[in-house]
Amino acid sequence: MQKLIKPLVFVALLGPAAWWAFIIWRAYLGDVAYLGPDPPKTLALVSGEWSIRFLMLALAVTPLRYLFNYAYLWRLRRMVGLYAFFYVSLHFIVFVLLLLELDFSALAKELSERPYITLGFMSWILLLLLTMTSFNRAQRALGRNWKRLHRGAYIAAILAVMHLIWIVRSDFGEALLYVVILAVLLGYRVLHKYSPKARQFAFRKL
Ligand code: HEM
Repeated sequence: MQKLIKPLVFVALLGPAAWWAFIIWRAYLGDVAYLGPDPPKTLALVSGEWSIRFLMLALAVTPLRYLFNYAYLWRLRRMVGLYAFFYVSLHFIVFVLLLLELDFSALAKELSERPYITLGFMSWILLLLLTMTSFNRAQRALGRNWKRLHRGAYIAAILAVMHLIWIVRSDFGEALLYVVILAVLLGYRVLHKYSPKARQFAFRKL
C-alpha cells in the first residue's frame, strides 16, 4: 500500500493542470464556457491561484509530517516542491505567452515598472534555483549549504504572498488568508526550532 502512495499523490497533484488542459482543449473546439470573456486573464488568475496553493502545500509538508508523526510524508516533500515550481512556471508561461504574446521588451518593461511582477518573478527565480539544486547529486555537492539554500523557499513564499497582496484591489480576504497560512507555516518552524517546550508538548517528533 505504502508503495502506491507516491504515484497516487503524483497523479492527484497533476489534477488541476490536467483539468485546465482539458478546458483549453474544449475552448479550442469552440466551447469557451469555462474560460470567460477574457481567456488569457482567466488562465493567468487560475494558474496564479494554483501556484500559491501548491507553494503553501509544499511548505506544509514538514509541519504535517511532525504533527502526524508520519515519516513517509518526508518522501513526498521533493515531489510537492517540484509541483509548486511546475505550477508557478505554468503561470509565468501564461503571462509571457498569452498576456505579453512573447514580447520580451514588454516583459522587461513590466519587470521594471510593476512591482508585483518583479516580486512574482523574484519568487520564480528563487524556486528555479531550488528546483535545479533539489536532486540528490546537488544535495551531496552542496553539503550543509544545501539546507541553508533551501530555506530560500520561505523567501520565495513571502515574495509570492507580497505579489498577491499587491494585486488585490478590493477583496483582501484571499490575500489575508495566505498571510495567515504563511505566518502559521513559518511560525511553526520558528517554534519548533527555538522552543524545546513547544516541541515537547505541541509537536510530536520522530
Ligand atoms: C513568474 C513571475 C510572475 C508573473 C509574471 C506573474 C504575473 C501575474 C499576473 C499578470 C497576474 C494577474 C493580475 C491581475 O491582472 O489581476 C497574477 C496573478 C496572480 N499570481 Fe502571479 N505572477 C508571477 C509569479 C507568481 C508566483 C510566484 C505566485 C505564487 C506562488 C503567483 C501567484 C499569483 C496569484 C495568487 C495571483 C492572483 C490570482 C487571483 O487574483 O485570483 N504569481 N500574476
